[in-house]
Amino acid sequence: MKVLVVGGGGREHTLVWKIAQSSRVSKVYCAPGNAGTAGMATNLQISDGDIPALLKFARDNNIGLTVVGPEVPLVAGIVDEFEASGLRIFGPDAKAAILEGSKVFTKELLEKYDIPTAEYHRFSDVSNALQFLDGNSVYPIVIKANGLAAGKGVLISENKKQAQQGVREMMEDKVFGLAGDEIIIEEFMTGPELSMLCFVDSKTVVPMVSAKDYKRIGEKDTGLNTGGMGAISPNPLYDAELEAHCLEKIIEPTLAGMRKEGRPFKGILYCGIMLTEAGPKVLEYNVRFGDPETQVILPRLKTDLLDIFEAVIDDSLSNLDVMWDQSAAATVVLASQGYPEAYPKGLVITGLDKVHASVVFHAGTAKAGDDMVTSGGRVLAVTTRAATVGDALTTSYKNADLIQFDGKTMRRDIGS
Ligand code: AMP
Ligand code: GLY
Repeated sequence: MKVLVVGGGGREHTLVWKIAQSSRVSKVYCAPGNAGTAGMATNLQISDGDIPALLKFARDNNIGLTVVGPEVPLVAGIVDEFEASGLRIFGPDAKAAILEGSKVFTKELLEKYDIPTAEYHRFSDVSNALQFLDGNSVYPIVIKANGLAAGKGVLISENKKQAQQGVREMMEDKVFGLAGDEIIIEEFMTGPELSMLCFVDSKTVVPMVSAKDYKRIGEKDTGLNTGGMGAISPNPLYDAELEAHCLEKIIEPTLAGMRKEGRPFKGILYCGIMLTEAGPKVLEYNVRFGDPETQVILPRLKTDLLDIFEAVIDDSLSNLDVMWDQSAAATVVLASQGYPEAYPKGLVITGLDKVHASVVFHAGTAKAGDDMVTSGGRVLAVTTRAATVGDALTTSYKNADLIQFDGKTMRRDIGS
């Protein structure tokens, strides 16, 4: 079978790497991919948002399965378009992808089906939002743009002035475009966070092994939020009891609610959870694999990933034994200086040939002649599978130190 992977980051390099290991795969394409996917797939010059071009390629080239990495094409309806053309594709349709595409939709769903989450108010009018803040005395408070904002649409405001400014930036200055036409203002919660990812078909939920993402740019969780600076699997806070609780109180009622709303969900359901004193509560839903969680989860998967994708599409997940390696995994992200704000591109990367016993997944890399150069904020993810998280981290850091580019930025405390 020929497989097309849509996307071009570290998550997609990991998907290509895993899919290429399947004995049933004859060729993998990646659109647009990066310098890492070029080594094991054919990269296509098609952006991950260009649904008509992706559809034409899949139809013309007899692609047996398309796998979508990022949320933007899912929310825009890539699955609906492919299915309407009789093509097999893995992921939720637009009706179900709204779980990530609209925070207002999701909060209302959670409220309607009694699923624990932060208290909230929704606003589509800036003066109403500002009036609400005038009457509010509890800080911090959390302000979220309704739509997709590349992970940046969440502001934690420490005081009224910051909150007012955040509301104005989203609703008047449109810093997140249409995503900020409507906003949510919600209660600030505290506690450790957990990313729970599940394979989901119309009837069955199969949770993956757990992971912990390190979201802030700075060590000891300081500085700006990023896409993720590293990850470990398993998450030390996670156990069978917590998994059962989250499935029963959060994941299953969410999926049942989606079915009742006429929006049955299939694909990857990623639930961001905060473990508060009052129990686990939903922070957000994503409708795709996490990045960099995928880099530590998929190396531990023993079952053929293609079999899982096909079982989800065919609603036969309950017949499949999804098996995991009992080992651990860690990934350390090497980022460009300045990320998650402005950063340079085109800097030469050396030392990749010295890496031993880790897999380096590429995120923002490109080829310039014979050189490998940086082309994104997150550049590489140095990933190791080992008996323990500690061993995996030791090897990842040893290899991370062998790779060089100007301004290479990493956190030394992944796993802490
Ligand atoms: P989200 O994209 O909604 O997961 O938000 C990004 C990050 O903002 C989360 O991982 C949390 O660290 C933080 N966050 C979001 N909502 C809340 C909340 N209600 N209380 C505290 N922190 C939050
Ligand atoms: N690592 C967080 C995300 O993929 O959204």
